[in-house]
Amino acid sequence: MCGIVGYVGPQDARDVVLEGLRRLEYRGYDSAGIAVLADGELTTAKKAGKLANLEKVLAERPLPAATTAIGHTRWATHGGPTDRNAHPHVSADGRVAVVHNGIIENFAVLRAECERAGIEFTSETDTEVAGHLLAAAYAEAPEGEGRLAEAMRAVCRRLEGAFTLVATHAAEPGTLVAARRSSPLVVGIGETADGTPEYFLGSDVAAFIGHTRNALELGQDQVVEIDRTRGVTVTDFSGRSVEPTAYTVDWDAAAAEKGGYDWFMLKEIAEQPQAIADTLLGRLGEHGNLVLDEVRLSDQELRDIDKIFVVSCGTSYHAGLIAKYAIEHWTRIPVEVEVASEFRYRDPVLDRSTLVIVISQSGETMDTLMALRHAKEQKARVLAICNANGSTIPRESDAVLYTHAGPEIAVASTKAFLSQIVACYLVGLFLAQVRGMKFEDEIAAIVDDLRKLPDAVARVLESMDEVRALGRSLADAGTVLFLGRHVGFPVALEGALKLKELAYIHAEGFAAGELKHGPIAVIDQGTPVVVIVPSPRSRESVHGKVVSNIQEVRARGARTIVIAEDGDQDVVPYADHLIRVPRTPTLLAPVVTTVPLQVLACEIADTRGYDVDQPRNLAKS
Ligand code: G6P
Repeated sequence: MCGIVGYVGPQDARDVVLEGLRRLEYRGYDSAGIAVLADGELTTAKKAGKLANLEKVLAERPLPAATTAIGHTRWATHGGPTDRNAHPHVSADGRVAVVHNGIIENFAVLRAECERAGIEFTSETDTEVAGHLLAAAYAEAPEGEGRLAEAMRAVCRRLEGAFTLVATHAAEPGTLVAARRSSPLVVGIGETADGTPEYFLGSDVAAFIGHTRNALELGQDQVVEIDRTRGVTVTDFSGRSVEPTAYTVDWDAAAAEKGGYDWFMLKEIAEQPQAIADTLLGRLGEHGNLVLDEVRLSDQELRDIDKIFVVSCGTSYHAGLIAKYAIEHWTRIPVEVEVASEFRYRDPVLDRSTLVIVISQSGETMDTLMALRHAKEQKARVLAICNANGSTIPRESDAVLYTHAGPEIAVASTKAFLSQIVACYLVGLFLAQVRGMKFEDEIAAIVDDLRKLPDAVARVLESMDEVRALGRSLADAGTVLFLGRHVGFPVALEGALKLKELAYIHAEGFAAGELKHGPIAVIDQGTPVVVIVPSPRSRESVHGKVVSNIQEVRARGARTIVIAEDGDQDVVPYADHLIRVPRTPTLLAPVVTTVPLQVLACEIADTRGYDVDQPRNLAKS
């Protein structure tokens, strides 16, 4: 969950690394730190709290100018968010500095071993052990080129768990060595204006996108050495040379900036029409068919599927809940949806004819990755729906459908969520097409509806002023309930999650039919209740029942906030606040009804004075 940056090249490495940390701060903001290698000496600066705290320290006590540096922004796991536990960690001899993302699971055994050798630890982190081990391994490695990489491989062979490590050694100016296992790391290769090569390491491309778009993807259990004269060398942990995959980053630097909005989240909400359009791009055929060439599963494999699991975490899990309604309706294949952290412990029934769809914005969420691996061990087919190119989850899946939402910096997911829902629709329809479950004209009609979604979302966004005003009036709410039926139920869950994670207000989402079985007791005079109303053109009974639910909660004093489609007059008498969304087919409606809930949560959090992009206790993978 932490952010890692490394730089070797002719520029002032301090500036390059700090700029990279700024771009990666969304990955963790418990502390930040930087180490520079200048004149054969390592110097570090680190500070608990956000990057701004480190910047203050650096303004008072600047580090020496350098051409080699590493930096880190932390999301604490082992050891609290203190100065001492901030990375980089330096070995006892002061010669090695290391930054780390992940968890070294056998660190206690290794720490005891180091302590027996007389090393005194200065932090409570699992990371520090890697610094000491590296210094020892370096001393034993053969002198000459590649010595630090050899030491890194020796250490990695001893580590258990998930880790990205980046290290620098005082005796190796112009060299950085990094390793990765189940944790992200990308290499950037650039060139300054005068043609001098420069090299970057980052947890993701945002770290160096302002400098280069040329990147290398690193595989599992690989070590990379970047050296100003020798360039990039990649091996596996045993030292066998590996050819890395080069790719061009299609996100530009501006995409990683706030673009004039107060919050990344607001920018990302505004980008949703584009994100959906990009996710649909090239996938809707001219005859109203679906073209998903990148799904590397054969038609026969897709026809053999008799059960689907959708597995994911957080907001991505809510996309999975919505997927269930659409995929079951279109394909008649049974779909189960499960949070990734539960999936593998439950021993789910999986076999070759099971399709497991894993959904992850980052492609790095550990629980989702572990669920994927469990599914593969059980011989299930795994299809990833993912936003981050080159990340671990798509790499380990049998097939991948990328959501082209662009970088999502705000911790709370918005545009990635909508594009995940759209990607799920594509998968569901594609399955229906391959399996002949729908007539071509039926598929073409839904494809036509999908094409209209970007415009529909754009129209919702145009009318958000009233929602923002409503948000300001709700800033002091104690509890907010969200109700929905059918696909409105996962939308209610997502609305509640957004409010909790951004505004720290107690919120819960319920299936509206469950209201009378308990939750209704919570409703008091003035309790805000947000109701997602299905289209009157959905099943008559579902719409009517939700309208009755609005009356029930209102009768008990609730302040009703009703999200209903244009032209639905039935809700008007019972809505204290009415938010209109464009008419959208029932199964596709979550793409439009979610948007006001995102804006509402964002506005409430902002009014309460909270950091919308980096809510407390949370981080992005
Ligand atoms: C974190 C974020 C959520 C996100 C979840 C899953 O908890 O705060 O916004 O939905 O992780 O992340 P993923 O990258 O796997 O979609």
